[in-house]
Amino acid sequence: TDPAVIRNFCIIAHIDHGKSTLADRMLQITGVVDDRSMRAQYLDRMDIERERGITIKSQAVRLPWDGHVLNMIDTPGHVDFTYEVSRSLQACEGAILLVDAAQGIEAQTLANLYLAMNADLHIIPVLNKIDLPAAQPEKFAEELAGLIGCEPSDVLRVSGKTGEGVRELLDHVVASVPPPVGDADAAARALIFDSVYDTYRGVVTYVRVIDGHLSKRERILMMSTSATHETLEIGVISPEPKPSERGLGVGEVGYLITGVKDVRQSRVGDTVTSAAKSAREMLAGYEHPKPMVFSGLYPIDGDEYPELREALDKLQLNDAALVYEPETSAALGFGFRVGFLGLLHMEIVRERLEREFGLSLISTAPNVVYRVVMEDGSELTVTNPSEFPTGGKIAQVFEPVTKSTILAPAEFIGAIMEICQGRRGQLQGMDYLSEDRVEIRYTLPLGEIIFDFFDQLKSRTRGYASLDYEPAGEAEADLVKVDILLQGEAVDAFSAIVHKDKAYAYGVDMAKKLRELIPRQQFEVPIQAAIGARVIARENIRAIRKDVLAKCYGGDISRKRKLLEKQKEGKKRMKMVGRVEVPQEAFVAALSTD
Ligand code: GTP
Repeated sequence: TDPAVIRNFCIIAHIDHGKSTLADRMLQITGVVDDRSMRAQYLDRMDIERERGITIKSQAVRLPWDGHVLNMIDTPGHVDFTYEVSRSLQACEGAILLVDAAQGIEAQTLANLYLAMNADLHIIPVLNKIDLPAAQPEKFAEELAGLIGCEPSDVLRVSGKTGEGVRELLDHVVASVPPPVGDADAAARALIFDSVYDTYRGVVTYVRVIDGHLSKRERILMMSTSATHETLEIGVISPEPKPSERGLGVGEVGYLITGVKDVRQSRVGDTVTSAAKSAREMLAGYEHPKPMVFSGLYPIDGDEYPELREALDKLQLNDAALVYEPETSAALGFGFRVGFLGLLHMEIVRERLEREFGLSLISTAPNVVYRVVMEDGSELTVTNPSEFPTGGKIAQVFEPVTKSTILAPAEFIGAIMEICQGRRGQLQGMDYLSEDRVEIRYTLPLGEIIFDFFDQLKSRTRGYASLDYEPAGEAEADLVKVDILLQGEAVDAFSAIVHKDKAYAYGVDMAKKLRELIPRQQFEVPIQAAIGARVIARENIRAIRKDVLAKCYGGDISRKRKLLEKQKEGKKRMKMVGRVEVPQEAFVAALSTD
């Protein structure tokens, strides 16, 4: 295809502003999906299938329009995957910035816009959902124009639902997004912007060719690993994969299949070149994904440990960012310490392990990675709080910090500042996007964000605030380890690293919570919180009295059965720690503050 007729673009938006619905309309209007087989969220449907490993998700769809070839490239929408978003953007020349006309600009609108501007993309501002009675296109066109520096009249208005304005938008893409430029005669260079594992076909790699040409039955080279593979199939997606005999040329977007079985061999951000005629330089900016949040995962039933390992191995085929290593806990037995990109990533992995692999797991409260410098100059990286050194020999502790951006109606400034201040945030700046909407920027420790920060923010702002954050290096902090002891024994899975000023309150709070969460046993269970050898809080779970037991079991048969069933249900998520039965909730009790 002549690069002059190609337009590569993506749609960027805050969650729920209507990206998928607009993409659906584009598929339909360009005739790629006919009205008969059209269903809501066509691309999302594939998402589910991809999860189950049945079909390939369209990460990039080729749309014919008015003599041109439009490649619509999908971007993952969440903060955890910012790196992948930025790679998808590198594959485009233009971006549709989609904003819900009833909501206005939100945190991910901004975050994505900045990424797109960094990638030098032509930005097309678009208000969506103009069919909604609550839409305020005038107001938000002004807000959007102010943000990107254009006239309110330059802001397009569409409804992904009714299709209004979508043709005009496609015309506008053709007219305003620059065609790709590249050197057709140079050695091939293609950017990997996504790679997914498919049970039947192995890894499917999505690429955007920058220079040169990639063909079928060619030996290709992955530049970051120097591994070579043969392309078994190469093609475009429209909307299902279509093999192409000609291969892919300058500016084209498509997929290739080499038969590798593990996405780590075909990493997002890497450069593909031809093995016979290799490019000298990789495309800029390749990064290994770096886990930011760690948690322990343990099978409730110790016999399921091999199954857990197998499940993690399988998930890793499809998730290059997932890292794990075996770990033994005195309290929980054999399990794994697993590293994630962020909280969402963690939830997805945990849910998949349980849902797709049928495992029952105990997960410990998540923590960030600490760098501890000892007085003798040695250093250690702590990914598990129980490994935090105790004693007086620590010189410095560093924790990861974030640049966080919160967008909210101005009336909530006070509440937001209070939350951030309470979590050791440092105000970096504040801007009014319009009369009543404000952007507040903070430096916040990542460790403070992973503990129900978002929930607090939502509840204190009645759901109106949105949050985005990115890693911003590390900072020194005065941190200590708080241990929790049951019957005098420290339970490693309960240890947490907390700021010194909060350690006492944390200990008291945890001891109280555990007293409520751990059911009464046949014997008394003292709970203590301690920093080193110093006990800072104490609670007691009293033993169940004999006569209460007698009464329970003496009742009529149906009541007894009910009781037994209830117990059985409860047992599912119980773990024996020493002689004490501890429910799953206790291991993540630290996650909720009240
Ligand atoms: P995520 O994939 O979750 O990020 O969301 P999204 O941005 O893809 O949004 P999606 O297309 O799923 O739409 C979110 C909601 O808005 C859905 O309930 C849609 O039906 C609705 N919606 C999308 N576009 C329009 C529109 O133009 N008008 C109206 N009235 N509703 C819309």
